[in-house]
Amino acid sequence: MAADPQAAAGAEVLHRLDVAAGATVVDAGCGSGRVTELLLERHPDVTVVALDASPSMLAAAGDRLARFGGRVVLRQADLGKAWPLDGPADAVVSTSTFHWVLDHDRLFGHVFAALRPGGALVAQCGGHGSLRAVLATAASRGVAVEGRNTYATAADTIDRLAAAGFVDVWVWLQPEPVAFPTREALAAYLADSALAPYDGGVAAAAGVAAALPAPVADFVRLNVLARRAAP
Ligand SMILES: C[S@@+](CC[C@H](N)C(=O)[O-])C[C@H]1O[C@@H](n2cnc3c(N)ncnc32)[C@H](O)[C@@H]1O
Repeated sequence: MAADPQAAAGAEVLHRLDVAAGATVVDAGCGSGRVTELLLERHPDVTVVALDASPSMLAAAGDRLARFGGRVVLRQADLGKAWPLDGPADAVVSTSTFHWVLDHDRLFGHVFAALRPGGALVAQCGGHGSLRAVLATAASRGVAVEGRNTYATAADTIDRLAAAGFVDVWVWLQPEPVAFPTREALAAYLADSALAPYDGGVAAAAGVAAALPAPVADFVRLNVLARRAAP
């Protein structure tokens, strides 16, 4: 069992990133900067622009990433709107975030605009069916889960990326249920992370963990690799 399923998944995604020295990489939805930190460590010659909508997450990322100095720039941004970048990026990385952006057609338009021709998108987020049991159990306990996520299918994502102008598109769903050692551990994770953004989610976490057939978070990951077409 991963103590933090999102951090483990993010680390795995970074293995798919291939960038040259001197590259600029956008981390879209950096959160508290855990994956950004790994990215900066693994690629000591790149500069990172880390975007997130949440001021508190950006503050935490600022503390964590201070040792990298000018190699990282933090910006507040809603990924569903035009991205505040100073120039084209060589790659966009995103982990555990895109499912929080409702309009994926617009989202991929913004990713496309962020990249130089030939630039790469390397992403992973929740995919179709992710947390189905957790969210159904939460909904049965009054948590407002409807309309908050886009847990897209691979087919829809391939179509959206192609329509946005991407080539070399690889998209796949990866069921990845994570078993927690106890229901209390699952409840803590749900309260801290998976159910935290929903109204009533934190209060319901212990009851949801107790009601599920097993202490399992039924993640399905949507993996995305694509490239902005070169002229
Ligand atoms: C689960 S965290 C992932 C953080 C990090 N990428 C990781 O893998 O650990 C999701 C992040 O997405 C951010 N987020 C959600 N919706 C967003 C949006 N529309 N625009 C920008 N950031 C958003 C949240 O503030 C949060 O920091």
